[in-house]
Amino acid sequence: MSLLLAPFQPVAAALGGLRSGLRHHGGRFRVGLAATVAAAAVIGLVFTLERPAPRNVQLGYRGTGMGAIYNARLVAQQLGLQQVDAPLPPSIPAGKTAAQAYKNIQVLQNLDANEFLRLMGAMTQWIAPQAGCAFCHSLKNMADDSIYTKTVARRMLQMVMAINTQWQSHVDGVGVTCQTCHRGRAIPAGSWFIQPPPHGERNATEADSGQDLPAAVAGGSAFPYDPLTPFLLSAMPIRVTGTTALPNGDRSSVNQTDWTYSLMIHFADSLGVNCTFCHNTRAFEEWDQGTPNRVSAWHAIPMVRDLNRNYMAPLAQVFPVELRGKLDDAPKVSCVTCHNGAYKPFYGASGLPYYPELAHAVTMTPPAGSRP
Ligand code: HEC
Ligand code: HEC
Ligand code: HEC
Ligand code: HEC
Repeated sequence: MSLLLAPFQPVAAALGGLRSGLRHHGGRFRVGLAATVAAAAVIGLVFTLERPAPRNVQLGYRGTGMGAIYNARLVAQQLGLQQVDAPLPPSIPAGKTAAQAYKNIQVLQNLDANEFLRLMGAMTQWIAPQAGCAFCHSLKNMADDSIYTKTVARRMLQMVMAINTQWQSHVDGVGVTCQTCHRGRAIPAGSWFIQPPPHGERNATEADSGQDLPAAVAGGSAFPYDPLTPFLLSAMPIRVTGTTALPNGDRSSVNQTDWTYSLMIHFADSLGVNCTFCHNTRAFEEWDQGTPNRVSAWHAIPMVRDLNRNYMAPLAQVFPVELRGKLDDAPKVSCVTCHNGAYKPFYGASGLPYYPELAHAVTMTPPAGSRP
């Protein structure tokens, strides 16, 4: 026995020494240990538990795990961004139209001249509260079109009218104003460009879709880096799941599914929700197990494509070079541009009733200087 343990004797001696040392300082050691464990537990809890406790809003049948998780503190922080601006006082009718009163009116011809100026005031508040009228106008001659922002703003007026009249399927009775996207700043959240492949060279872990590179638009995941171009500008199919038992001729690849997931992360992030806001995650493809929100989202997809193709993209040459993308394209709209992190912009409140002229039908002519 002693022979067998001989090689371990120095270890045993050391352990014995340690044990007697501990016994010697026992009281202090135990207090120190308890304090360390308590501190670790507190730090752990601080980082694990949210304050106040998050609320789970049930969205589907019991047992499906379908819910939206909200933290009241974070929602309260968001509320500041989600307030509809107080409307300007109503205008006293001038009795003549903007076209009669002014020289160069191409969109709002039939609007009462005083209401026209009221809208100009609101546009200033929504887009350029600091720069004022001079953001779009040469103050010596308001009819002059030489500042590019005025040309963009004219097309934006037509875009807003088109959203409110032609895309009721998505914006319903709520509608949008310039504030929905701009919220007091010239460049709205999340405007984006076509992304060329991020690297000329490839290595073993990088597919040519640019996977395995964390992309902010895909929530920092390693899903494809630009899910917006194929789905919100082009019309690549989003559905990837077979609809019949195998073999079913479904040719969708894992790679395509990655693109769909990348887009879905953009949806969820833009609205500040989880996948279960729209899906029962046991069967992403089943419409009758998902929520009505998925139908709203489905209507948004062709709307965003229309805005990007017919309103934003043709403005490429109007925007100054420094505001264009790497491929010289115009900035574009995504889900976050209107939603700004809320499941509904302004949580369903609307500024449109104060400016009903923004819900009028539009003439579709692009402004002078833009490319078809
Ligand atoms: C975000 C851009 C923008 C801002 C800011 C802006 N405007 Fe305008 N303004 C326009 C556009 C676009 C038109 C042309 C509308 C049309 O063609 O129907 C216009 C036209 C006008 C005209 C008509 C000029 C003419 O003779 O044709 C007047 C007057 C005017 N704005 C006044 C103002 C005033 C006053 C302010 C500040 C309170 C202001 N605007 C702020 C974009 C802007
Ligand atoms: C659906 C979202 C959306 C709405 C609604 C919207 N805009 Fe825009 N607007 C954009 C985007 C995206 C850009 C490009 C921003 C960039 O340069 O990245 C833009 C750019 C602009 C610019 C140029 C800013 C600059 O610094 O170059 C002006 C001016 C402007 N919008 C005016 C308006 C006006 C006026 C309205 C309301 C009639 C309006 N917008 C409504 C999305 C919107
Ligand atoms: C705001 C609503 C919304 C959210 C949130 C959302 N999705 Fe979707 N999802 C849709 C819509 C709409 C479609 C169908 C698009 C179509 O038919 O063109 C879809 C389709 C899909 C599909 C393809 C289904 C098929 O038929 O092949 C998958 C997979 C999917 N989503 C996964 C996810 C995941 C994972 C998340 C969370 C990261 C998520 N979705 C979040 C709305 C949403
Ligand atoms: C032009 C602005 C705009 C854009 C861009 C936009 N939305 Fe919306 N969205 C709205 C408005 C306004 C509502 C509120 C409509 C209502 O209450 O009926 C809404 C409502 C929704 C709802 C319903 C929420 C609920 O609780 O009923 C979903 C889901 C949604 N949007 C998803 C999306 C997705 C996904 C995208 C991008 C593909 C998108 N939206 C892009 C303006 C926009």
